[in-house]
Amino acid sequence: MRKYLMAGNWKMNLTPSESREFAKQLVSSIKDLPNDVLAMIAPTFAALQAVGEVIKGSEIKLGAQNINENESGAYTGEISANMLLDLGVEYVIIGHSERRHIYKENDELINKKVLFALKKGLKPILCVGELLEEREKGITNDVVKNQVINGLKGVDASEMKNVVIAYEPVWAIGTGKVATPEIAEEVHALIRKTVVDLYNKEIADNLTIQYGGSVKDDNVDGLMGMANIDGALVGGASLKADSFKRIVKFEK
Ligand code: PGA
Repeated sequence: MRKYLMAGNWKMNLTPSESREFAKQLVSSIKDLPNDVLAMIAPTFAALQAVGEVIKGSEIKLGAQNINENESGAYTGEISANMLLDLGVEYVIIGHSERRHIYKENDELINKKVLFALKKGLKPILCVGELLEEREKGITNDVVKNQVINGLKGVDASEMKNVVIAYEPVWAIGTGKVATPEIAEEVHALIRKTVVDLYNKEIADNLTIQYGGSVKDDNVDGLMGMANIDGALVGGASLKADSFKRIVKFEK
């Protein structure tokens, strides 16, 4: 059965020393998780080593916020899969809306990153989600479905157990405007149906689909109570120990 993945995306916040201290607080408060709940944090690249050392042996897993789609070479400012693996990274966030919209990453590049991460043994968290104007135009389902289909192009069925999808409506990220559980559930169900069509029901049933966008300690329970919502990708609220702990320890 699929698991809940409660993940903190620290974005470009916290220095390596601050990250180390914060990770220590999390390790002492996030433990004894139920069997079907996983916790993950994705600090800045510069803090991966420090955080990795602190969380080693704990129940918290290490994630990265991005990856380059090439093995190695002349890619100034980029980070490779081997570098992430060497630091103990297990998950990598790919195609976050900030990468899509600020850094102009398109579906083709995102797909290359997903394929490369899988080839190297990393677990991609493929992020999808519509802009406000797309929702207002009534094309949310088409946009999200296409992002899923294009992001998973060429991913073999046998690799799907290592894939996570995160639905993050762009209008809900960092805005305080959380999607209602019902709105999110509708899109999550569509994503699962898309995966049934691309692969099969068993693969779709085992797929973790996270929700992201203004998840907080006071709205997480309602979201996690929905049939197709299997975790959260949390930005702002993952930077406060109490909030993140409460989010990870959600109640259905
Ligand atoms: P937020 O960010 O929780 O601050 O809205 C979510 C995300 O970008 O993953």
